[in-house]
Amino acid sequence: MIDFKKQVVNCISEVVQNLEKEELERLVEIPPNYDMGDYAFPCFRLAKEFKKAPNLIAEELVEKIDGGKYFTEIKNVGPYINFFVNTNKLTETVLESVVEEKEKFGSTDIGKGRKVLVEFSSPNIAKPFHIGHIRSTVIGNSLYKIFKFQGFDTEALNHLGDYGTQFGMLIAAYKKWGDRKVIETDPINELLKLYVRFNKEAEEDESLREEARHWFKELEDGENEEATELWQWIRDISLKEFNKVYDMLGIKFDSYKGESFYSDKMPKVIEEMKEKDMLEESEGAMIVDLESYNMPPALITKSDGSTLYATRDIAAAMYRKEHYDFYKNIYVVASEQNLHFKQWKKVIELMGYDWANDCIHVPFGMVSLEDGKLSTRQGKVVFLEDVLNKAVESTLAIMEERNPDLENKEEVAKQVGVGAVMFQELFNNRIKDYVFSWGKLLSFEGETGPYVQYTHARANSLLEKGEFSLETKIDYSLLKENDEINLIRLLYKFPEIVVDSMEKLEPSFITRHITEIAKAFNKFYNSCPILSVEEELRNARLILVFATKTVIKTGLGLLGIEAPNRM
Ligand code: ARG
Repeated sequence: MIDFKKQVVNCISEVVQNLEKEELERLVEIPPNYDMGDYAFPCFRLAKEFKKAPNLIAEELVEKIDGGKYFTEIKNVGPYINFFVNTNKLTETVLESVVEEKEKFGSTDIGKGRKVLVEFSSPNIAKPFHIGHIRSTVIGNSLYKIFKFQGFDTEALNHLGDYGTQFGMLIAAYKKWGDRKVIETDPINELLKLYVRFNKEAEEDESLREEARHWFKELEDGENEEATELWQWIRDISLKEFNKVYDMLGIKFDSYKGESFYSDKMPKVIEEMKEKDMLEESEGAMIVDLESYNMPPALITKSDGSTLYATRDIAAAMYRKEHYDFYKNIYVVASEQNLHFKQWKKVIELMGYDWANDCIHVPFGMVSLEDGKLSTRQGKVVFLEDVLNKAVESTLAIMEERNPDLENKEEVAKQVGVGAVMFQELFNNRIKDYVFSWGKLLSFEGETGPYVQYTHARANSLLEKGEFSLETKIDYSLLKENDEINLIRLLYKFPEIVVDSMEKLEPSFITRHITEIAKAFNKFYNSCPILSVEEELRNARLILVFATKTVIKTGLGLLGIEAPNRM
């Protein structure tokens, strides 16, 4: 595809000798609206070299610049040189590229040969997988897909919370009150019940906590068969339940190595810290003092010698470096853990590993219900699985009304219902807290998943009715209505938006952009007749419909959302 920004740079560099092209490119701006051109070059930076006022420079340069076939107009406004793209060229280059590249339109190979790890979801076993976890799952899955689309060799990691004191509690609770058969009928809920009961009774009876610590220690020492067997069983049945949810979301992981996996890798790490003289004793525990970095100390071992969440994360990072030799190692984890990740990174740095800088924590804000924060302890849990089921059910009801004759209604309702939840999740900047709202989620109007999916299906139906073929020769100059050009401009921008969303680790850029594309498409659809016009124009418009459908589908795909052809 023609890179018009680069063409702006070429034009400028022919008349400005002293600046490198990279620097010129950094200076190019996008004006706030198209009446002012597609690109603007500000001349402030040239004032020193030219020893003149920026607006005089702009005035002089404009006379010398030749826009050639790429720009129809170049004019100066104050200190700016504004470039107006030749819309025939724009249309041709966008539509030809989409037709040629199809679902690959927007992808690159900038990541070729480089490994990117994306760790996401990472729920805790025997604690519920609730709507709070969906954020990490959905954002992480999208980032994974975006990196892959840019040619990176990408791995999806699930750092299961399959270790730690809660396992001590579970084993102790199971031994007191548990029934294997009952648990197996409904593992997540039954294990949660045990966990909650244990915590409650421990408030009265301190010795229970001691028991839990004992069992975790046994587990960690690895000699007690009963502890190991129970742990394995609990992990297996829980993972099976998690996988049901991942299947509904269409998410796959390359690895489920959780916290337990790092258990036997820690002595070596602790030894290394000792050798590097980083550890201090404090009330029997081992810590890394981080006071000079304005942080509380990182706890490495407890007084009974058992390790902690942070220790396991350090061991995990070292293992990943060794095992994958990553280019980037990304952690999609709630902003509540900001301090943990800051301490963790500092410790790795202090160990002397410069790859600490390639480890990136991608935080996100909280989800709340319309009536307050979600929490396991307050009992206000919303299970993700229930949310997805409810979304699918409600969608099915809507489908029955809107399109009762639709084939495979159930399948489509699943794609739309689940997609709606994911879309809402990915619409806002990830760092913002957000309120989960059923009302908005499933609406076919406005900035929602169903709206964008519906636009895709509408485009598909036009293509089917128009008996459209990609082989047809197209006269691109026929597309000249404002609503057509606006849509084409948005399609042109798509590849740039994808790269931007990758660099900023922000899937919402894509969500918003495809929503804009859907809006522009519907505007075009309402103002420009497609099937009823004469053949040449119809074919040109159908190519635009095809390009829109393709880009929306790719965009939804990068968010992890399906694009049904009919709905
Ligand atoms: N299991 C943790 C939780 O649910 C999240 C794990 C995040 N990943 C990590 N490497 N620490 O809170």
